[in-house]
Amino acid sequence: MTVLVTGGAGYIGSHTVVALSEAGRRVVVLDDLSNSSERAVDAVRALVGADVAFVRGDAADVNLVSQAIVEHDVDEVVHFAAFKSVSESVERPLAYFANNMGSLIGVVEAMAGTGIGRLVFSSSCTVYGEPDEVPVTEASPTGAANPYGWTKLHGEQFLAQVAAASELDVMLLRYFNPVGAHPSGTIGEDPNGIPENLVPYLMQVATGQLDRLRVFGDDYETPDGTAIRDYLHVVDLAEGHVAALDALASHPGCTAVNLGTGRGYSVLEVVTAAEAVLGRPIPHEVVGRRPGDVARIWAGTERAEHVLGWTATRDLAEMLADHWRWQEANPDGFGD
Ligand code: NAD
Ligand code: UFG
Repeated sequence: MTVLVTGGAGYIGSHTVVALSEAGRRVVVLDDLSNSSERAVDAVRALVGADVAFVRGDAADVNLVSQAIVEHDVDEVVHFAAFKSVSESVERPLAYFANNMGSLIGVVEAMAGTGIGRLVFSSSCTVYGEPDEVPVTEASPTGAANPYGWTKLHGEQFLAQVAAASELDVMLLRYFNPVGAHPSGTIGEDPNGIPENLVPYLMQVATGQLDRLRVFGDDYETPDGTAIRDYLHVVDLAEGHVAALDALASHPGCTAVNLGTGRGYSVLEVVTAAEAVLGRPIPHEVVGRRPGDVARIWAGTERAEHVLGWTATRDLAEMLADHWRWQEANPDGFGD
């Protein structure tokens, strides 16, 4: 089997390429490097000791994607390529809709034109908006609170409608909060500028690159007042994609699946866990809430177990230890 991985030079993509290669699949990465480095692809090649083909370009370019599918005899696609910053999406909705919908349409059109029909799509628990009840299951109500979230929800709806009318079979994977890095410490998250997400920010406080962590709000209706998320190890998440491709043969049509651990941690619990892993305090202060944040969300994991035969196995301490190994060895990420 040969898999085309769009956005395969990025954070989740690079870990997924490793997992796919280890599972015996050949991989072709297509990435425009708008938020990543070709060094990530080199690091993946060094890790898996196998040839990983790389095509630099835009997933919205139907001719380019079709050519990659035909030239490399691609059987199936994992589509990561998208912009992912919630705050940037509020400032630049046009850029987010153009890129996230444009790349998805480009990929689906190229698949239809070349006659391949198995697709895994990167969705997000952001499609649940502010949930009334936790854990959220795939049947929970959906909604979006920002343009980024809308691109994921519209992406899901678009795929459901194309799948209903064609031979396309799709897994919509709704990721919760991926953190951590490959245990080798040679690939990991490499945010542009000041990180927006909790763990990358906290790790840059730990290296001394940033002064102190701001804890956004301690007046939520949660046990310690800080917001709760379902953090999962990026290697578990990567393995979920292999399981999703395997499951597509027996699950035609369009299936949404949560990928999370089923347990939530508050911001302060993550800080405490990181302090235990690093063996020293992480300077932090409580500030006001960040607009748009939900109070608490974690995944219902039953469908992932039944449909994919997948459960997350790595705990928070392992996520933080692995993230730290990468951050400490590569304080400037891939360095470009
Ligand atoms: P990332 O930015 O590290 O990876 C995305 C990759 O796609 C980058 O390498 C970027 O250069 C590439 N890309 C963007 N637009 C492209 C285009 N038009 N053509 C070709 N390449 C393009 O992000 P990530 O964290 O690895 O996220 C991967 C996917 O998972 C995204 O779709 C994101 O929305 C989704 N997701 C991420 C999270 C998270 O917390 N990281 C959570 C839920 C969903
Ligand atoms: N937080 C802080 N300080 C920080 C950064 C974050 O207190 O410096 C808090 C946030 O307020 C939130 C929690 O830590 O309560 C997690 O925040 P992240 O930014 O790490 O993650 P989010 O849950 O807000 O969002 C992430 C991605 C979204 C994606 C969502 C669900 O950024 O793109 O997970 O997958 F949609």
